Amino acid sequence: MFDLIIRNASLPDGRRGQDIAISGERIAEIAPRIEAETREEIAAGGNLVTPPFVDPHFHMDATLSLGLPRMNRSGTLLEGIALWGELRLTLTVDALVERAMRYCDLAVTQGLLAIRTHVDTSDPRLVTVEAMLEVKRQVAPYIDLQLVAFPQDGYFRAKDGVESLNRALDMGVDVVGGIPHFERTMEEGRLSVEALCRIAAERGLPVDMHCDETDDPLSRHVETLAAETVRHGLQGRVAGSHLTSMHSMDNYYVSKLIPLIADSGMNVIPNPLINIMLQGRHDAYPKRRGMTRVRELMAAGVNVSFGHDCVMDPWYSMGSGDMLEVGHMAVHVAQMAGVEEKIAIFDALTVNSAKTMGLEGYGLAKGCFADLVLLQAQSPAEALRLKPVRLSVIKRGRVIARTPARVSELLIAGRARLVDGSVGFAPET
Ligand code: FE2
Repeated sequence: MFDLIIRNASLPDGRRGQDIAISGERIAEIAPRIEAETREEIAAGGNLVTPPFVDPHFHMDATLSLGLPRMNRSGTLLEGIALWGELRLTLTVDALVERAMRYCDLAVTQGLLAIRTHVDTSDPRLVTVEAMLEVKRQVAPYIDLQLVAFPQDGYFRAKDGVESLNRALDMGVDVVGGIPHFERTMEEGRLSVEALCRIAAERGLPVDMHCDETDDPLSRHVETLAAETVRHGLQGRVAGSHLTSMHSMDNYYVSKLIPLIADSGMNVIPNPLINIMLQGRHDAYPKRRGMTRVRELMAAGVNVSFGHDCVMDPWYSMGSGDMLEVGHMAVHVAQMAGVEEKIAIFDALTVNSAKTMGLEGYGLAKGCFADLVLLQAQSPAEALRLKPVRLSVIKRGRVIARTPARVSELLIAGRARLVDGSVGFAPET
């Protein structure tokens, strides 16, 4: 007797007509037709079932603060940082928790069940850290939330940067962050990468740095990050977030850099929505896109996963907690619309991100946790195209969110009918 069987599902790897049987918190079997008793059944009707979406790069301490205390007039990264500096002085634990919990509610309805959030440690009061630790505790039954100690104003550049970051780690923050391109000089940027990797190695923690989030082709801190990863034996436990300067680098240098990144086992996290919005701001025309070299990194075997980064905050006034919106933008900005390429983009929102975060028991195989999302679409390509409704979101074998299918009623004479939200096109194979 199973607890739940999802019938007739399509899977991200292209298998169709699959039944997924669940016992307790785990997947017990995946097969074309499971003849067994079950307490509960969900008819997928040929729709796609995927492991949950995973956002490896977010700012939950800033989310949903749009307009506080004012709007970002220029829309630039630097005005965003200045604006956040104003808002930060007024933050309270209660307000931070309230906004973050609202975002987590939204995330669950979007099938987003694991998030790595950077937490600003620049204000020595560390109300951000206190609040996010509380949010992590509250959402633990349904969202894997990882916290990164993020020195937004610079590790060396901010007055209390070093001391505050270390205190945040003492309080229980999971990952060591950094922002080398925002330090005062290239040299201090390099020293910050060295110091922060050393701290991670000593404390046994992973590293995830905002690295080279600039259009300056000479911003090469990623090189130091890769070298320090190897030096401290941190392979597989380090992530370079953004790496936008790679977009503008000299091609010869990149031909040397990408193998260095691959050899170091560094995970790479581009943030397509934010990169296309914030990079290239000093350009006239033509304007650079500013996203890192996704196709080339993937081809070299680097684990690439996409982050949402911001939703309605000082840097970005849009966003909806929908990782398919992130993937949709990635398809465009990376110009990866081929059949295999779209599958690679979908993987970068799910399995690759789970690898970046080191999630245990994640996946669509016997023995994995029964954390699943049923979409109103039949393939990863269709999901990226439509950003469809998440019909059911399942955590540890239990449905924790449901959304009705999107069906429109057409009332035109002679064409009166129901139009399915997936528009009925054959899925790409
Ligand atoms: Fe970020």
